Amino acid sequence: MFLYSNRIRNLNESATIAISTLAATLKSQGRDILSFSAGEPDFDTPELIKQAAKDALDSGFTKYTPVAGIPDLKQAIASKLKRENNLHYEEAQILVSNGAKQSLFNVFQALIDEGDEVLIPSPYWVTYPELVTYSGGRNVFIQTSPESSFKITPAMLHEHITPRTKALVLTTPSNPTGMVYDRAELEALASVLQDTNIAVIADEMYEKLVYDGEFVSAGSVSEDMFRRTITINGLSKSVAMTGWRMGYCACADSKLIKLMTNLQSQCTSNINSITQKASIIALEGKVDAQIESMRQAFLERRNIAVEQINAINGLSVLAPQGAFYLFIRIGDGLDSMEFCKQLLEKEGVALVPGSAFGMEGYVRFSFACSTQQILAGIERLARFMATHFRA
Ligand SMILES: Cc1ncc(COP(=O)(O)O)c(C=O)c1O
Repeated sequence: MFLYSNRIRNLNESATIAISTLAATLKSQGRDILSFSAGEPDFDTPELIKQAAKDALDSGFTKYTPVAGIPDLKQAIASKLKRENNLHYEEAQILVSNGAKQSLFNVFQALIDEGDEVLIPSPYWVTYPELVTYSGGRNVFIQTSPESSFKITPAMLHEHITPRTKALVLTTPSNPTGMVYDRAELEALASVLQDTNIAVIADEMYEKLVYDGEFVSAGSVSEDMFRRTITINGLSKSVAMTGWRMGYCACADSKLIKLMTNLQSQCTSNINSITQKASIIALEGKVDAQIESMRQAFLERRNIAVEQINAINGLSVLAPQGAFYLFIRIGDGLDSMEFCKQLLEKEGVALVPGSAFGMEGYVRFSFACSTQQILAGIERLARFMATHFRA
């Protein structure tokens, strides 16, 4: 009946959401399913944040707000970035969006023209290549390996730069590998970019969930990096607020922020007014103790899961330094989608195939669930490996 646009026909559904939905459907049909596919903390949003939302609702704060966010919220973001990240942005350099996903959508739409190249270290989070393609750009993947701890090196970066390179996506801590770039590594990458016009899209969604070493914001390592970096962050992962839809981006170029605000004004306008009020509490440091206890819980789960997975014949995993995913090696030449389908079919365990993140021979296991579920899932995984993939 309708003739769909080429643009929309070429856009794929998020593989992680697709698998989580399939797992939920099987569960609702009565199957005994353990899902490790979602990128979502299992904790509840801290009480103080919920209270701020209730107060906003009760006081009638339910109308349109400025598209880019209310001044108090932008001020809270600016203070947070200054205090915690050594990034000095003004209100006009900040745009609040419906989750970091919309921030990224805005950025790619505002920066990328037909044929522009975007450098994406691989394995990558599933959304980047789709958004680049949707904006008319070309994905240029920089393949990493466990030997480089799944990080790109200055040489690898240099090798992939062409006259069409418009931007580099840098995710630290990484989804799906959990690797974190330290200051020296960021400085080394920065020196490769110094004489170029390449923008850095720094996705720092998991900054609060770092277990080893120190988190460093990409834009904070030099003046030059500050000018070229678009910092992306949000509250979904760090404060267990996935459903509230709060993400933001900050950038020294206030003109870019204005252009993205124009785009947002024509599609979604401001984010939910109540979420905005509640988010201020999260950004002001008032729930830092709860954030820290969530981090501690994730750390304990990580340690248990890494040890147990590495004890299974045929599987191995590098301990992630941050985020809440294990990127597990299942072996060369194995089709990760087939592996995940069989695992779901035979043991009722849902993982995400590495192919969704651009890397075969791996699967992603989210440890954002109870220790009890993690242990039960790993037991099933071990049985699956012993029965079907005897090394
Ligand atoms: C690396 C990364 N960036 C951004 C997001 C988007 O988060 P949200 O849209 O919930 O803010 C996610 C969510 O999975 C993510 O893993």
